[in-house]
Amino acid sequence: MPRIAYVNGRYVAHSDASVHIEDRGYQFADGVYEVCEVARGFIVDSVGHLDRLGRSLSELRIDWPVNRAVLVHVMREVIRRNRVHNGMVYLQVTRGVAPRDHVFPASGTRPALVVTAKRTDPVAAAKKAGAGLKVITVPENRWERVDIKTVGLLPNVLARQQAKEAGAQEAWFVDPDGTVKEGAATNAWIVTRDGVLVTRPADHGILRGITRATLFKVAEKLGLTVEERGFTVEEAKAAREAFITAATTVIMPIVAIDGQPVANGHPGSVALSLREAFFDVAEKIQA
Ligand code: PDD
Repeated sequence: MPRIAYVNGRYVAHSDASVHIEDRGYQFADGVYEVCEVARGFIVDSVGHLDRLGRSLSELRIDWPVNRAVLVHVMREVIRRNRVHNGMVYLQVTRGVAPRDHVFPASGTRPALVVTAKRTDPVAAAKKAGAGLKVITVPENRWERVDIKTVGLLPNVLARQQAKEAGAQEAWFVDPDGTVKEGAATNAWIVTRDGVLVTRPADHGILRGITRATLFKVAEKLGLTVEERGFTVEEAKAAREAFITAATTVIMPIVAIDGQPVANGHPGSVALSLREAFFDVAEKIQA
């Protein structure tokens, strides 16, 4: 079955889908994006993702490309046309197409919108969670507004590649004082020896993850305490558990940090039970 993408008002074959060479996303990374999980036919936490999209757009003074209800319709339609039951829906908005100039284009330039969807395999993901992931740590080298979900992801790309070359699956950005910020495309968590979940406060220094926000509710349901505070790499290495969250991975246990096992080097039971309980708590919109 051929994949279908939505590009600026048209549903086109994914293999032919293209944007103009003077799209500002292509030339300046002048755009924002969202990735939502599709689970069992539902878009997971779409309200949170669209709220965050609205915030990213307004921080960069980009208009909505279409109104929010239309965008939800397009997302559902792309999911439907690609017959995605479990997978991802990706959307990207840029400041549009204009002759290359750093200043904003003339008013009236329409923001560009691309929506794609793809299938993923929940059985493979569960297997991955059962094995756990490894992370490396890298110095924080991103700008100060990583709370805006922009497509300017070069440090994240380089960090992930470095992780891959080190035999790991994620890289944690670390501040000069040793505190962990977040992963290249995930938020970072630990479970202390007392069973408390710890994650860094969502200030401008990290992306306010939608999965992270839902996990607060999941933790409450399971009777677990969450502390929003910084933690160091050393604390994470000595923790009972570590794990990461994102729409693409939901919750994935971390079994090693910089080659050193976390606890006994196996996925932790708290992370696995949070993963198990996640979808009953997450908001679902019928796709
Ligand atoms: N990334 N931190 C960063 C830097 C991210 O890129 C992401 C998500 C997260 C987790 O956010 P959420 O729970 O809302 O997915 C945290 C997406 C999945 C990506 O770039 O593919």
